[in-house]
Amino acid sequence: MKQSKITQRFLCVTLVAVMSLTACGKETKEEEKPAGYTIDNIREYVVGVDEKVELEDGSKRAIINFDNAATTPALQPVSDEVEAQMKMYGSIGRGFSKKSDYSTDFYNNTRSKVLQFVGADEENYTCFYVNNTTDGLNKLASALITSEDDVVLCTRMEHHANDLSWRERCKVIYAEIDKQGRVDYKSLEKMLKKNKVKYVAVTAASNVTGYVTDVHRVAKLAHKYGAKIIVDGAQIVAHRKFSMIGETPEENIDFFVFSAHKMYSPYGGGAVVGLTSVLNKHMPEFYGGGIVTIVTDKEQNYKDAPASYEAGSPNYPGVVGLGKAIDILQEVGFDAISEHEQKLVRRLIDGILKMDNAVVYGDTEDISDRVGVVTFNLTDVNSMHLAMKLSEKGVATRRGAFCAHTYVWRLLGVSDEAAKELVECGEGGTPGMIRVSFGIYNTEEEVDEFLSILDKAHGECLKEMEMLPHQPGL
Ligand SMILES: Cc1ncc(COP(=O)(O)O)c(C=O)c1O
Repeated sequence: MKQSKITQRFLCVTLVAVMSLTACGKETKEEEKPAGYTIDNIREYVVGVDEKVELEDGSKRAIINFDNAATTPALQPVSDEVEAQMKMYGSIGRGFSKKSDYSTDFYNNTRSKVLQFVGADEENYTCFYVNNTTDGLNKLASALITSEDDVVLCTRMEHHANDLSWRERCKVIYAEIDKQGRVDYKSLEKMLKKNKVKYVAVTAASNVTGYVTDVHRVAKLAHKYGAKIIVDGAQIVAHRKFSMIGETPEENIDFFVFSAHKMYSPYGGGAVVGLTSVLNKHMPEFYGGGIVTIVTDKEQNYKDAPASYEAGSPNYPGVVGLGKAIDILQEVGFDAISEHEQKLVRRLIDGILKMDNAVVYGDTEDISDRVGVVTFNLTDVNSMHLAMKLSEKGVATRRGAFCAHTYVWRLLGVSDEAAKELVECGEGGTPGMIRVSFGIYNTEEEVDEFLSILDKAHGECLKEMEMLPHQPGL
């Protein structure tokens, strides 16, 4: 019989208490902690969350880290697992030793965990490891694109990783965004109707507005017109439950790519989950050891996927960390994560909109399809100036166009020409906005403190503006 979480917790805490008593009061910090990772206790397990840094004025504080869309800090259990597995580390897939056997099994078994994490069955899908999403998308593009005339349909919302990887190899066309900045599904279908599209490459969640695209709807459209779908999962994996499998087979996702460092395992690494049958017909232009059955003077025979996509010695700590991060995110639960994020996003947007000259990009009323990303400007000051002030005061944000230039220009209402001119004048980098992006461990108190710091920083920027050449507003 399944025990309820409360009963489990009670039993565990009691057991720990008894163990502490029998150990004559020799309690370790570990034993005092409640069993299980939850949205309420996860902050205790974030490495460095209380680490103080010295600010410009000489004071010291733990920073408010609102830059989690860029990368996430390690979770202690992830870091512990990486360290623990190092004791049994040996050559992956190449050695003859018990350690080599152990780590090779661990490495390969983690593939099943990754597949299960994204709801993919082992009959149809396989998983190969990559350095990060950029690496995964480039490897896929390198393998799947067979002619410069191949047509890939992207959207204007894409991160450069899911745009340039295709642009540099074949013909890319784009579905537009609507007035609120969401993917325009009508535009997407129109492009599919008009062109012979081979692959549709879309992001599951935007790193600029946090919008979650209905990729199963896109899959259905792609398949209707004979294309396959590739989903950039960089911004979804730590925020929402994701499944490759839709309600009907036409809605299934063909390829999914993501990075471990955006899900609390910053040890490098990531994965591509894809259709085995398609992957086996191709190979990336990336060659070396571990991918062949035999090489002779005149020829070389390659293995099937996933090995054929993993030339060279792999990043074992990256794979170990990824597996543990999956366990923990699943334990915390995506319903709890999403509910928590929505609270933070609502509080932040409402707070920013109370300020003078504030613009928050994207839909500020219906936020149900947004993960924890909020971008904004205070239009009477320069965003670079403001972000620097925030950093000086101990807040980590990101400022700029977030490697999604075409999307950001559209949201800002800046033409390509105007954007180019601003970049060429070289004073404030690209035109841009400020991005706050939440992790599972951020709190409502941090949002309130951020709003108060933002208000102060804004005031100081206004005072200093006459001394600086920055153009306000971007
Ligand atoms: C939507 C999206 N795609 C791709 C990437 C690239 O990820 P990585 O830097 O891990 O390769 C990012 C990074 O921020 C992203 O936000």
